[in-house]
Amino acid sequence: MASSASSTADGVAVVGSGLIGRSWAMLFASGGFRVKLYDIEQQQVTGALDTIRKEMKLLEQSGALKGSLGAEEQLALISGCSDLREAVEGTVHIQECVPENLELKQQLFAQLDQIVDGNVVLSSSSSCLLPSKLFAGLVHVRQCLVAHPVNPPYHVPLVELVPHPETAPATMARTYALMRQIGQSPVRILKEVDGFALNRLQYALIGEAWRLVEAGIVSPGDLDLVMSDGLGLRYAFIGPLETMHLNAEGMLSYCDRYREGMKRVLKTFGPIPEFSGAVAEKVHQAMCVKVPDDPGPWLAASDTLLPWRARRWKAGPPPLLTVPHTWGCHSRTWVGGLLSPCLPSSPPHPQAIGRANRQVLPLIFKVITWGYILQPVIVILNCFNLQQNVFIIRFWSLAEDSPGPRF
Ligand code: NAI
Repeated sequence: MASSASSTADGVAVVGSGLIGRSWAMLFASGGFRVKLYDIEQQQVTGALDTIRKEMKLLEQSGALKGSLGAEEQLALISGCSDLREAVEGTVHIQECVPENLELKQQLFAQLDQIVDGNVVLSSSSSCLLPSKLFAGLVHVRQCLVAHPVNPPYHVPLVELVPHPETAPATMARTYALMRQIGQSPVRILKEVDGFALNRLQYALIGEAWRLVEAGIVSPGDLDLVMSDGLGLRYAFIGPLETMHLNAEGMLSYCDRYREGMKRVLKTFGPIPEFSGAVAEKVHQAMCVKVPDDPGPWLAASDTLLPWRARRWKAGPPPLLTVPHTWGCHSRTWVGGLLSPCLPSSPPHPQAIGRANRQVLPLIFKVITWGYILQPVIVILNCFNLQQNVFIIRFWSLAEDSPGPRF
């Protein structure tokens, strides 16, 4: 079965077999694609194949392997390759994963430009290099884009798709569909910008976190709690814009109510911090108290990190009743929020409950009653470990159409 799957599957080439290349290889294999893993260092490929084998076995044992194929079937789809031309021949998608160095990536894409035909997508994993720099002057520029994953890509589904100004819409559409097919959650960045969207949001948050600690307004430990026990819980479900919409009677009402307050607070934001000196020392000390003495499995982007994170995340979030995306965002958040207090050890949904409290108290009683009726059914389904059932998926995932459990 494995060999027939591998002979008929579409081919993908992953160029660079480090941390990110390995994750992409596993993701494409989970979606049933035949993967050629190429690296300039042959021993890197050998090591990567070995790591992937161990990783997939662990994931399978813990029930966290993605896709509908077993670990052996997925492993049969991945092979190493020491020749770039051979690696990319006949593939539908090339995912570049070499170090974040503009010159190196430009050289590689120039090389690929000479050997590919007009049917393949050339995709870079770059975290922050702009497509207009990466793909400048390429003949196949219409087939190029950045597909920026989030580490660890196997467990964090977001992928930012960033086009070059000349990227063909069909290239974006094809890559979007491919990402969905392998269970990732693509977003279209419509115009390139430094930091794309994820890092711009992340840096805005880090910047203000730093300023608050620097000004002695909050301790580093409490600052992290604001996120992990506050904003983070909201944002695991819904984004900042949807939060605004649900925190009032819709977005326009939110803007009317909070516009002036938001502008007033935003005006008090300070300059860009230096991220060095005494504040860096203070934050470092506080973090050393929080994490173990041996930082290996916690901080190093090493082979040990992925199984550790997989275990931690698998153990962490409780199963939660959820509903298909097709029900629309309101019904999703309402049902998720209102039913969650009725489910064993699952957290309530703050926005949905807040909104419901204000608007439709009778509905709460109705839904809670239904929650208690549904609860035994959910517990029974859980006993059978029916995690791929559309009704039972984990806290982090609201997408019912992904292959296998998601986190
Ligand atoms: P890495 O250093 O772990 O792996 C890079 C691999 O590329 C190495 O195996 C190296 O031998 C190989 N390589 C170097 N030159 C090559 C060439 N000319 N042809 C083929 N292979 C070559 O790097 P990592 O962390 O996997 O990052 C890869 C890309 O993914 C970078 O652009 C990075 O910015 C991006 N990225 C990294 C994330 C992370 O957290 N590590 C997150 C998201 C994106």
